[in-house]
Amino acid sequence: MKKLLYTLILSVAASCTHRTAVEADYNVVPLPCSMLTSRGGDFRLTPSTCLVIADSTQFVNAELFAGYIETLTGFRPAIIGKAPSKGYIRLTASNCNATHEGYRITVSADSIVVDGADAAGTFYGLQTLRKAIRGGKGEDVLYPAVMIEDAPRFAYRGAHLDCARHFFPVDSVKLYIDMLALHNINHFHWHLTDDQGWRMEIKSRPRLAEIGSVRSGTIIGTSEKYDSIPYGGCFTQTEMRDIVAYAADRHITVIPEIDLPGHMAAALASYPSLGCTGGPYEVMCRWGVSDDILCAGNEDVYVFLDEVLDEVTDIFPSEYVHIGGDEVPHGKWEKCSACQSKIHVLGLKDDAYSTAEQKLQNHIMKYAADRLAAKGRRVIGWDEIIDNGFDTTAVVMSWRGPQDGGQDGATHGYRVIKVPNTHLYFDYQYAEGDTIGAPYWRKIPLDSVYAYRPVPEYFTPAQAANVIGVQGNVWTEFIPSFREVQYMALPRMAALAELQWCDAPKDFDAFIGRLRCLLPLYEAEGYCYRPLENK
Ligand code: ACM
Ligand code: ZN
Repeated sequence: MKKLLYTLILSVAASCTHRTAVEADYNVVPLPCSMLTSRGGDFRLTPSTCLVIADSTQFVNAELFAGYIETLTGFRPAIIGKAPSKGYIRLTASNCNATHEGYRITVSADSIVVDGADAAGTFYGLQTLRKAIRGGKGEDVLYPAVMIEDAPRFAYRGAHLDCARHFFPVDSVKLYIDMLALHNINHFHWHLTDDQGWRMEIKSRPRLAEIGSVRSGTIIGTSEKYDSIPYGGCFTQTEMRDIVAYAADRHITVIPEIDLPGHMAAALASYPSLGCTGGPYEVMCRWGVSDDILCAGNEDVYVFLDEVLDEVTDIFPSEYVHIGGDEVPHGKWEKCSACQSKIHVLGLKDDAYSTAEQKLQNHIMKYAADRLAAKGRRVIGWDEIIDNGFDTTAVVMSWRGPQDGGQDGATHGYRVIKVPNTHLYFDYQYAEGDTIGAPYWRKIPLDSVYAYRPVPEYFTPAQAANVIGVQGNVWTEFIPSFREVQYMALPRMAALAELQWCDAPKDFDAFIGRLRCLLPLYEAEGYCYRPLENK
């Protein structure tokens, strides 16, 4: 009897020294639309919890989720095909009541069911479960019984990265894509070409990689001095395809940008006959915009566009291709006999709305759009395309000011993505006195990102319906390292995620409360971010 009692005490003691469990909190970033606590016990996630998938469509989701759990808790759930009697998380996509990317999570004592409208919806449900974890390594997670129903506000939720001004290799780009996934962002806008570097291999135009991807030096900070250190980098087609697949696993579409017809100095340095003067040209070593642009009067330029765009569509399956259109100085066209005779042949004339050169720009952009349309693709352009009279089949990316380009676009029947340089340019420094990031006069603190309204009250319902999405941009003139990219993006990307996903009334203090719970996850993933204490 004494021995039995002793054994009992030992086993109780052993179970007391067992693993601790920390309660999960569903107040995550972005905040789910609806949460109803339900009766019944909490679900305990332990090392023996398994992930149940009915078929292979959920396999990648399950693999990724198992990895997220492992990073936070130290244990990795097994993935199985048939549910045990309890202690499992089931991943399905049968929730046909939810809109695209929506999901329902049902937590009970025996199981958690994450049921998406589609595999993307399931993925976002898993992100919510991941972000709800509050404990650390070696601790179990206690998920309180709940029913969560959630779906995004905007179909297009974007983040951009400029790999032209500074080059970030494949691993960094993949890490950036992971950051996007954590914030429920579904489009990666990849800025691959600019005056300061051409960063994509085009097999039919090898000099773009050989010549256009390297500049002879880089201007130092805001000085007039150059470092004379050759700077280069270029993604091979294999690498780009790998990144497209990596993003697709995370339900992210990669949208490549080929910026036309300006921002082309690197291409002109590679193929000088494509410019109005024939060169010589250099890959630019300073920031700003080159006066040299593609010659719209040269028929070879149209062949060049065909070749580049055909390879682009071969690599990138996205419905949309971004063809730029921003910041195009027309001075060279005004003096170029080939451009002027093209204007004459096309019958383009100045009028009250635009100049003949603006119409010529529209012509070359339209040429690119038609080439893409023949392959079933559509185009996105910066909001200058509105000034030049582009047709409304294009999506306008509105960057100039909080509403100007966007409202103009929405008013004129374009579908619009909002990325105002007043609120969502994450290369701009956060605050006066900062040393990292672009030292422009405007600063963009976290609260101003959060305060941005993509659809202002004065929009008509028709204008509001034309706003299809919101994006944050990271230009990299003043951001040479990937650690700094992360610092500039995080945590502003968290505020962006709430603009993109939630339609709830704004409450900055409540958002900061949720964000404080996201920061340990940034730490666990090894992300560099700006601490909240730094205003
Ligand atoms: C831009 O910032 N030039 C689109
Ligand atoms: Zn010309």
